[in-house]
Amino acid sequence: MRIQGKQYKTVWFENDALCLINQPLLPHRFEIARYTDYREVATAIRTMVVRGAPAIGAAGAFGMALAARQGVDLDEAAQALGSTRPTAQDLFYGIETVRGAASGATAASASGIALDAAREVADHYEKACEAIGELGADLIVEGARLSTHCNAGWLATVDWGTATAPMYKAHRQGRGFFVFVDETRPRCQGSRLTAFELGEEGIDHAVITDNATGFFMARGEIDMVIVGADRIAANGDIANKIGTYSSAVVSHENGIPFYVAAPTATIDSECASGDAIPIEERPGEEVSGMFGWDEEGDRAASVRIAPKSSPIRNPAFDVTPARYVTAIITEKGILKPEQMSA
Ligand code: MRU
Repeated sequence: MRIQGKQYKTVWFENDALCLINQPLLPHRFEIARYTDYREVATAIRTMVVRGAPAIGAAGAFGMALAARQGVDLDEAAQALGSTRPTAQDLFYGIETVRGAASGATAASASGIALDAAREVADHYEKACEAIGELGADLIVEGARLSTHCNAGWLATVDWGTATAPMYKAHRQGRGFFVFVDETRPRCQGSRLTAFELGEEGIDHAVITDNATGFFMARGEIDMVIVGADRIAANGDIANKIGTYSSAVVSHENGIPFYVAAPTATIDSECASGDAIPIEERPGEEVSGMFGWDEEGDRAASVRIAPKSSPIRNPAFDVTPARYVTAIITEKGILKPEQMSA
């Protein structure tokens, strides 16, 4: 995808280092972070320098490749990388793909095999997301008014995005449409990242508070919703960014189609239903305060909002039951939730 006309990916490997776009600095600073130690990659995933299910899947895969290069036991590296964020199935897909490829390899060959496998994981995501875009673009008709939650854009993948891929393809096919971007408290991936991406692509959009989504749905100003997924259970239940469930329920109430876009790597066929999906609970500081930049964009600061004495709860994801999901757009086709376990 393009940033100021230059082509970028979110996750790539070059000059013996894993390169990541440093996401907490966006949209006000654009910096590339480089890692040569798998332990630093684990910290980058935990602190959300890289985030979004397929992007952390690819980063986890390259973290395993770095561990192999460092001569570290891959079971130990898998444990360290896998304990960073529990909900996104793709993290485990990336780690296990590389561990599987390198298992049984000689010490001399493990490093090259692991790096090739990690590159394949990243390429797979890029192709899968582009295919999601091609299949999903037909759902977006001229003049449609869309809603999306969090960032399921190219920054959350390797390229194209999941929920945004149909938007980028439809836009390049010449269709005009409008996107309501949920701000997505507490980390504001919508206002910081999705709005940035859509702006760079020239797609009409407005950022709204999470609380306003139902208002626009009830007024008939939203025609369809597309969100991403962090894990899809075998029965079609979807774990995605906190607030997705509310959006799905209000969509249902208002007869608005609710689509989920995700590569098949996000499906966890061993997870029978959403009840079994582990939900990450993140630090309270994400809710009690806000991080941002001054008007000139020169100085970053964190400000406190909630009283110091108030306890905080901060679940990062919620589960949307399959009955609220119109269809799941995957690289293999647009599937009904009940087709997930097939
Ligand atoms: O906590 P994050 O930013 O890693 O969560 C990402 C999401 O939940 C996104 O909404 C996305 O749909 C899943 S990744 C394409």
